[in-house]
Amino acid sequence: MITLYLLCLLLSLSRSVAGHASLWHPSMWGFNVTQQTFPYDNRPVAPLMAMNFSQWWFHGHLAYPPHPTDIFALPAGQRATAEIACNKGATSYFASSEGGDVRAGNDVCPGSPTSEYHTTGLSDVKGCGLAIAYKSDVASVQPADFTVFSVNQTCVWTRFTEFAVPARMPPCPDGKCTCAFFWIHSQDSGGEQNYMNGFQCNITGATSTVALAKPQVPRRCGADPANKKPAAVPGNCTYGAKQPFYWFQLEQNNMFEGTYAPPFYTDLYNFKDGAQDDIFADSYASMPVPGPNQTVLPVLAVPPPPGSSSASAGGSATSVSGGTTTSSATTASHTTHTTATTSSSASTSTHTQNSPSPSQRTCSRSSNSGASAFSRRSRNAFSRRSLNAFSRRSTLSRRIASSGRNASSGQPDSEPESPPSLAGRILAMTRHSRALDVRRRGSLWRPL
Ligand SMILES: *[C@@H]1O[C@H](CO)[C@@H](O)[C@H](O)[C@H]1NC(C)=O
Ligand SMILES: *[C@@H]1O[C@H](CO)[C@@H](O)[C@H](O)[C@H]1NC(C)=O
Ligand SMILES: *[C@@H]1O[C@H](CO)[C@@H](O)[C@H](O)[C@H]1NC(C)=O
Ligand SMILES: *[C@@H]1O[C@H](CO)[C@@H](O)[C@H](O)[C@H]1NC(C)=O
Ligand SMILES: *[C@@H]1O[C@H](CO)[C@@H](O)[C@H](O)[C@H]1NC(C)=O
Ligand SMILES: *[C@@H]1O[C@H](CO)[C@@H](O)[C@H](O)[C@H]1NC(C)=O
Ligand SMILES: *[C@@H]1O[C@H](CO)[C@@H](O)[C@H](O)[C@H]1NC(C)=O
Repeated sequence: MITLYLLCLLLSLSRSVAGHASLWHPSMWGFNVTQQTFPYDNRPVAPLMAMNFSQWWFHGHLAYPPHPTDIFALPAGQRATAEIACNKGATSYFASSEGGDVRAGNDVCPGSPTSEYHTTGLSDVKGCGLAIAYKSDVASVQPADFTVFSVNQTCVWTRFTEFAVPARMPPCPDGKCTCAFFWIHSQDSGGEQNYMNGFQCNITGATSTVALAKPQVPRRCGADPANKKPAAVPGNCTYGAKQPFYWFQLEQNNMFEGTYAPPFYTDLYNFKDGAQDDIFADSYASMPVPGPNQTVLPVLAVPPPPGSSSASAGGSATSVSGGTTTSSATTASHTTHTTATTSSSASTSTHTQNSPSPSQRTCSRSSNSGASAFSRRSRNAFSRRSLNAFSRRSTLSRRIASSGRNASSGQPDSEPESPPSLAGRILAMTRHSRALDVRRRGSLWRPL
């Protein structure tokens, strides 16, 4: 553990994340809002909390609209790259920033002292989401209209952040939708800080016309050891289309969690990493009412499309109904591979433990605090990124063999593809997290 800790500390030295960040794009409301625009600091990066509705909704920026033609394109079934930074000057749009060009590669917050991210910064990585409302007129958009369609659980970590767009996104009305970026960071960094930046968006290359389902409020159903919940409760999850979190404001909250248990865009609320492929009106054949004692899980209606690997980078949609082991494993493999190689070279390895970027990313976020924080973070960090398809599959078998609830025994199988010992230890530490994986969950619960 100590060795791992030090290793991670070393690996993390070159990375940084700071407390405040936002999406930056000319399609956003508030693109040119500066520290002086409002009586208080209402730059897009300023956190939102304890605010009334007009202050937090679209960051209070509705009077600062984008140009009508500045629209963020979201290609159905592909990935869109957004820029997230603490400062406009750190993005491609530095030309209209107050402080000029301070870009530093993929650094979200150039110039942040390392002391900052060794103490609080890295714990901010808790995932973020993009939500969409199928309304071209922002004035008519209500909080319950937004559906989270893409999640990046490693957000905020790199300036260029990719979001996988579900393949079945229908076209937007009048050629335009309304989107927003949402982020809530770890409680370890302090504050009940919410982030929302609205932007104009458009689905391109749509092949489906099936509408999204009515989004429901997400539920806290993942393993949550920090809050005395050792294992996931899959029956308690909200499945399908889910609203973003509206939390800790004075008005119109949909989340009522306390200061030390924020809602996150992670498996904790059944927000799978990547495209949210199950958000459509026809996604589910059955959808029991979720609850802490619910043992019947929803069944997906739409079978995985042939050759779905590129379409389902998120990999979640086809799995609740169980799928076949083979197709699940294929999807998992694809997901892992994609994630592992995106930001670095064109490595073809599926041994993601050997790939520098994911391990660096995931280790680093654990390098700044004690053991419980470590397990909290690594739960999400490793659950889908650091494991190859094979090790997931073998874990699955073990879980089934042990009645599905106790996966704390057993070591990674000694197969050629088994992870090395470091990964083995990571595996052991993060086993609980994978209780959340829909893929496995589906198979696990099928006998019921
Ligand atoms: C929201 O709060 C601001 C600042 O306190 C205040 O000026 C504004 O009137 C409030 N708006 C509403 C609708 O309460
Ligand atoms: C933002 O500022 C830049 C530079 O002044 C300007 O070119 C652009 O039109 C502005 N955008 C909006 C939406 O006001
Ligand atoms: C999250 O963004 C990072 C950085 O762009 C990217 O490497 C990764 O693949 C993205 N994850 C998902 C699930 O799209
Ligand atoms: C949005 O995308 C659709 C499909 O590609 C396209 O027909 C439409 O013109 C786009 N809207 C705008 C405003 O460009
Ligand atoms: C179920 O979800 C609700 C709503 O998010 C949450 O308050 C509760 O703690 C969860 N219970 C269990 C056992 O997961
Ligand atoms: C769930 O089951 C427990 C134990 O049987 C019971 O105490 C609790 O009231 C039930 N909760 C709901 C929401 O049905
Ligand atoms: C899980 O299995 C391990 C090893 O067999 C055992 O020590 C532990 O008590 C079990 N945990 C539960 C919750 O059954």
